[in-house]
Amino acid sequence: MANGFVSALREGNNALIARMAAIAAIGGLLFGYDTGVISGALLYIGQEMHAGTFEQEAIVSVLLLGAMVGAVGSGWLADRISRRWTKVLSGSVYFVGALGSALSVDAGMLIGFRFLLGLAVGAASFVSPMYISELALPRARGGLTSFNQLAITIGIAVSYLVDFAFHDVSDNWRWMLGIAAVPGAALAIGMLAVPHSPRWLVEAGRTGQAREVLSRLRKGDPHADVEAELADIRRSSAQARGSRLSDLRGRRVRPLLWIGIGLAVAQQFVGVNTVIYYAPKILSATGVSAGGAIGQTVFIGVTNVVFTVVAILLLDRVGRRGLLLTGTAGLLVGLAALAVFFAVAPLQHQAPWLALAALLLYMASYAVGLGPVFWLMISEIFPLRVRSVAMSACTVVNWAANFVVSLTFLTLVDWISRSGTFLLYAVIAAVALVLFWWRVPETKGRSLEDIERQLTGDHT
Ligand code: BGC
Repeated sequence: MANGFVSALREGNNALIARMAAIAAIGGLLFGYDTGVISGALLYIGQEMHAGTFEQEAIVSVLLLGAMVGAVGSGWLADRISRRWTKVLSGSVYFVGALGSALSVDAGMLIGFRFLLGLAVGAASFVSPMYISELALPRARGGLTSFNQLAITIGIAVSYLVDFAFHDVSDNWRWMLGIAAVPGAALAIGMLAVPHSPRWLVEAGRTGQAREVLSRLRKGDPHADVEAELADIRRSSAQARGSRLSDLRGRRVRPLLWIGIGLAVAQQFVGVNTVIYYAPKILSATGVSAGGAIGQTVFIGVTNVVFTVVAILLLDRVGRRGLLLTGTAGLLVGLAALAVFFAVAPLQHQAPWLALAALLLYMASYAVGLGPVFWLMISEIFPLRVRSVAMSACTVVNWAANFVVSLTFLTLVDWISRSGTFLLYAVIAAVALVLFWWRVPETKGRSLEDIERQLTGDHT
């Protein structure tokens, strides 16, 4: 079967869809960059600002707190002022946040600007996939949604490369944090040059403009029926109008919400961001130098990108469940290996490469499974009526879980050791694996309406 993302680039007005999706995905890129860059920068910020464990954790985690607020606020803004203007705004906030972080004179100021950056990151995590999915042909939505996850992983890998490139330069961490101002500005300016999403235009009562944008997007696609698509958007937006948080308590929606929230929590509680944010710190503990640890971290970032591409190619063939279960089993093995490595002192002397190998296995497994599958599933399993509010709830829970893990990682390491911490994540991964096997449905190759009928038992 043709892959969603690949076929999306073959059909319709490829150049325009690709340009719009690429500009929107700069948001995903910055999501990845701003969350990843801190791993290398922290090694130097900690020294220069004499930041203690708690301050270091706060510098990393306050961005996540901002992201929670950003994810809620941007859902509201995206409806009020449009997806496009929300993204122009978030690009501008990225720009200011990056420069402010780079020029910070103390930990307090840096924490403030990282919070501001968080607002933009949270907005990106919600509005980028939303905007992209609203441009896509229905049958290509899965691939394009995961394309945003690819942008996140590229952002993380680029941040590692930048950390590596600047580690020997004076004012290194200021460069590492400040350089994100460039893509921030590109996002803000780039979004001014692309049209509004047709769905938003319909919701704003600007049907004529929506028809015009859709016609441009579907130009050259022999299967396209702009009027039918417009009618579909009108119908679904009429259904979605007025959906509220309380709708999530409905008998049919609740089990699905549990699946979404379960995936959101599991995606973070297996500890992925302890690796993303603290990899150089974990690797320095194996005896390599700070520069060497940042260098090895680049491999981890590249592995994440490469295996996300593998996931994009396989998701519509193997299915979501197969990749989710295999990926979670793989990362469980990686975590168990890390727990053993840090528990057995002779291993650390005789086979220091083992930690890197375990981290790479972990990263590859995460990238084919939980990484993309969480974001994809939450865009697929909810009935249209509650989709945006349910997606936003799952996004906020994901950021909250991310916050808890990042804020507690260094403290946990102090309390129960490195080995104990990875063992804890391994136990959580094992529980998640059983729950996924038991509860997570297959959504491959089916229309959203079909999925909705099956999952909610509504056959009317
Ligand atoms: C997660 C992020 C994580 C990234 C790693 C995303 O899906 O939401 O928290 O840093 O994957 O690739």
